[in-house]
Amino acid sequence: SNRARSYHAKVLDHYNNPRNVGSMNKNDTDVGTGLVGAPACGDVMKLQIKVDDNGVISDVKFKTFGCGSAIASSSYVTELVRGMTLEQAGMVKNTTIAKELSLPPVKLHCSMLAEDAIKSAILDYNTKRKTGAPTLGKGA
Ligand code: FES
Ligand code: FES
Repeated sequence: SNRARSYHAKVLDHYNNPRNVGSMNKNDTDVGTGLVGAPACGDVMKLQIKVDDNGVISDVKFKTFGCGSAIASSSYVTELVRGMTLEQAGMVKNTTIAKELSLPPVKLHCSMLAEDAIKSAILDYNTKRKTGAPTLGKGA
């Protein structure tokens, strides 16, 4: 059906032409890094945000070692949160990502990885601003 085709089209577009793949220096004071894993499948997503003086996300990069839906989810979320304030980005829900990409129920955790990654990047950024040190590598 057309629905099925448009589902494949959006996921495949982000999967085949992922936006904003890459890395930033995690030690930069204006960069927040989120690194999360999906316990269900072992896939890993790194998502980094650059934040300007007004608390607005000016750039986003990601690297995902995982399934097509996880790559598509992270690609889509980089486009979604660029230009958002940290508060707005912190409210992005995996259901929004899953709906945009029409992910089937079995792939919902892939979009959850993207929600977790952006939240983790915001936490890292805020912690660095307060303490001067990134959260990465601590705990876990
Ligand atoms: Fe194999 Fe996600 S479970 S790539
Ligand atoms: Fe595990 Fe997609 S992130 S299958």
